[in-house]
Amino acid sequence: MSEHEFYDAALAEVFPVHSSVNLRGELEIGGCSVVELARTFGTPAYVVDEEGLREQMRRYRDGMSARWPGGAVTFASKSMPVLATYAIAASEGIGVDVAGAGELILALEAGVPPETMYLHGNAKSVEELRLAVECGVGTIVVDNLADIERLERLLTRKQPVLIRVIPGIDPNTHRSVATGGSDSKFGLPIEQARALIARLEGHPTIEVEGVHLHIGSQILDVEPFRRAVQAIAGFGTFRTYNIGGGLGVNYNVGHRAPTVEEYLDEITAIAREVLPAGSRLLIEPGRSLVARSGITIYEVNNVKTTGKTFVAVNGGLADQMNVALTDTTFSAVVANRAGEQPNVTAQLVGRQCESGDLLVDGARLADPAAGDIIALGATGAYGYTLANNYNGALKPPVVFCRDGDTRLAVRRETYEDYLSTHTPARSVPWADAARTAPETPARIVAWGA
Ligand SMILES: Cc1ncc(COP(=O)(O)O)c(C=O)c1O
Repeated sequence: MSEHEFYDAALAEVFPVHSSVNLRGELEIGGCSVVELARTFGTPAYVVDEEGLREQMRRYRDGMSARWPGGAVTFASKSMPVLATYAIAASEGIGVDVAGAGELILALEAGVPPETMYLHGNAKSVEELRLAVECGVGTIVVDNLADIERLERLLTRKQPVLIRVIPGIDPNTHRSVATGGSDSKFGLPIEQARALIARLEGHPTIEVEGVHLHIGSQILDVEPFRRAVQAIAGFGTFRTYNIGGGLGVNYNVGHRAPTVEEYLDEITAIAREVLPAGSRLLIEPGRSLVARSGITIYEVNNVKTTGKTFVAVNGGLADQMNVALTDTTFSAVVANRAGEQPNVTAQLVGRQCESGDLLVDGARLADPAAGDIIALGATGAYGYTLANNYNGALKPPVVFCRDGDTRLAVRRETYEDYLSTHTPARSVPWADAARTAPETPARIVAWGA
């Protein structure tokens, strides 16, 4: 084995496209040593292969338009709601879908043209809808009748909408991310959707452009997508058919997710049979667009053997919820010795107070020791999205790497940020009116900075 390759060549398919192992044996992303990144930005940190991300966007964009001239790709931004990623999506000529006001604000801040946006949500508030209407969001995906009543009150001009339907398709995926089955909370059952579409015909402001569905996420077979296109075609003739996202990705060397091309071949082949010629076929990939471009880096805090060997890192459930939520089976390497064969099987665990705070069950690692840098591959999707403050964890930074250069896209949260939402409590005598809380020493507040 050469000194500058992953110890298992198959890992190169899981880690970012622009990954390599340098002559010191360190993992590099976009030409940047992960060990250097850890020194500069600290750990845990999310690291993104910017060129890999852009290439995947182009692969989707060009693959879709080559197969379906009226086709378009929309980035499901919930998968990586980072301002830089919105800007990159816009610069690569793909649309953006937002689920709620927060994502909408990020997209606007990033300069995404509002007319290219889709607003989702199964429980949109009046304020969110008002914001979307005022900003000129191109398409609102209607989930329920309350959306319609609220839009009727808000709209003074025509607003294109898609009606989200429940197709009754239950793909084989984790129940947390299955959304197309008949008991789904998203969208309207077929009969109710049909009735609503009929009722909105000729509506003065609400213009039904088409129908939308999304059957779920991390789907490792193209067949359910075929059924999704067939199901959506059954709603009648529209300008637009949006079949959501859902294509799965390889989280470890044993996985075999369909390629983007296999997925596009399947959906456009069936679309040619069942959708009206000239209609717009839209897809909203999230996971399969961003997962592989991202890794998360940690420092090992300690290694101990009890009933099992535990390698405990300085992050965990707070920055990588996917394992607990969807049983994701990530791949880990010791990033400062990425070419070395693993000799230890360990539970790679985090520092949050849950036994479910497990990053990799049975990770194969090369001589792990305190101070080592661990890289977890394919964490670009829903990792940053789900970051939280469990046990007072500070949300990690997001660093983009390309051609040996780094750009900080999101800074690490500080203890000042963390304390700031609790400021009102300082002036309230919670327990003992005579006792006021001492000021937090500046050195503690500065510590996370
Ligand atoms: C409406 C909608 N579209 C697209 C997506 C993206 O799915 P994925 O990340 O699996 O591609 C989601 C994910 O939840 C969704 O709810």
